[in-house]
Amino acid sequence: MKSFLTTEPELQKVLIPQNRLQERVSELGQEISQAFDGKDLAIVAILKGSFVFAADLLRAMTTECSIDFMGISSYAGQPGSGVVRITKDLDESIAGRSVLLVEDIIDTGLTANYLLHTLKQRKPASVDICALLDKSARRIIDLPIPYRGFEIPDVFVVGYGMDYQQHYRNLPHIAILRLNGSPKSQPDSTDSDQADSRNVS
Ligand code: IMP
Repeated sequence: MKSFLTTEPELQKVLIPQNRLQERVSELGQEISQAFDGKDLAIVAILKGSFVFAADLLRAMTTECSIDFMGISSYAGQPGSGVVRITKDLDESIAGRSVLLVEDIIDTGLTANYLLHTLKQRKPASVDICALLDKSARRIIDLPIPYRGFEIPDVFVVGYGMDYQQHYRNLPHIAILRLNGSPKSQPDSTDSDQADSRNVS
C-alpha cells in the first residue's frame, strides 16, 4: 500500500482495459467527426480528469476543431454541492461556435449541469456533452449525453486521467478503487462487475 495516502485505498480490479478504451474512443471520435463536419467545433475539456481522454479523442477525430481547457474544483471544499470554482477559464471565445464539453465522468450530473449553464451564458451556437463514463445510477440531474463512452456501475474508478487524491491518473486503463473497505462510491448501492455500453458486453 502506498504510504503517501492518508486512507488505505486499494486497486481492486480493472474495469475497462486499455484496448477497450482505445476502441471506444476511436468510435466516439468518428461519430463526433461526422456529427460536426463543416461546423466550427470548439472542444472544451474539463481539467484535470478529462485530459487523457480529450487527447485521445482529438487524435481519433478527422474534422477540424479547436481545443480549450477549463479547470474546476469543488467550491469551498464541498464536493457534491454542484457549485464549482473555475480555476482556469477558457482562453478563447466560444460565441457562435458549436461546443463539445468533454468530461471524464458524469456522476450526479451536478458539475456538468453547472458547466452547461456557464457555457451557455457565453452564447455558443450549441453545447453538447461528451463523457467517457456515465455512472447513471447516481444521477440527480437528468442530462442529455449524446456522446458517451461507457455506462459503469456505482463504483469509484481511477486511471486514464481520473484520480483519487491526485493519484492514479497515469494508469492506462480504468480500475476500481476500493475505499474504506468497500469498492462502492456509495455504501448502500448496487453494482455489477462489468462496464457497459452499446459496444461493450
Ligand atoms: P458529478 O457532479 O457528481 O457528476 O461529479 C463529476 C465529477 O466528480 C467528475 O468530473 C469527477 O471529477 C468526479 N468523480 C465522480 N465519480 C468519480 C470516480 O468514480 N472517480 C474519479 N472521479 C469521480
